[in-house]
Amino acid sequence: MILVIADTHCYYGIVNRQIEHAEKTLGIPVDCVLHLGDFGLYREHLHNFFVRQGGRFLRPLYFIEGNHEDFNEFSALLARYNSTFFTHLPRATVQTVGPYRMLCMGGAAYMDALNTQPGAVIKDHHIDACLALPQDADIIISHDCPVGIGVPNTPGLEYFGAPGFPRSRELLEHFKPRLWLFGHHHKWFSTEDGGTVFHGLPGSWKGYCLLDDNYKVITVENSVPWQRTRFVDRLLHKLRIVRSQGPSS
Ligand SMILES: [Fe+2]
Repeated sequence: MILVIADTHCYYGIVNRQIEHAEKTLGIPVDCVLHLGDFGLYREHLHNFFVRQGGRFLRPLYFIEGNHEDFNEFSALLARYNSTFFTHLPRATVQTVGPYRMLCMGGAAYMDALNTQPGAVIKDHHIDACLALPQDADIIISHDCPVGIGVPNTPGLEYFGAPGFPRSRELLEHFKPRLWLFGHHHKWFSTEDGGTVFHGLPGSWKGYCLLDDNYKVITVENSVPWQRTRFVDRLLHKLRIVRSQGPSS
């Protein structure tokens, strides 16, 4: 089984708690973990978990990026941690995870443009690169949802328009995936449209999905309490965000 999870926002330990829940409580072995973005690729948090605490994921973990990663240091952090502690699935590529060919479409434009890092935004050239790929894809994985499938807006933010990233329907029509999985919106969502089943995942602390070898998705609601980080880590994290955004934001 592939355990699918989203939006850990630097609380990496939640991944292991959900693996343990699947295996010990449900009795379902987990082969690997697929993370749908907002992993929390930030230097201090990675160092604290993997180096200072000696933390390790209990199963191999593959992730696409969301909008809450440090894109200023993205390459440097991957050079330090990727392939050793987890595996990044680059945007606009098809990667094999388990028995599936997955089109990977990380990134998202956060609703407040001032808070959106340029590296997070899915651009035309990413969509064009996907459409030019020689491979087919069985499943599309993205951080944001595709447009037009009925994902409700967050109450109070309706004026930002319908959720979803531009030109996502072109990916749907081109690849015609059996399954499309996404996170970002922090709520469960499922629907089916034109032969594609869509599943949106909540924050990792609310639950996860289990994906078998035949496109079957089981949703598992399981609340995991947040582990509070040290004050100094939270302070350093905030300082890094302010510094990376510059004085105008
Ligand atoms: Fe997000």
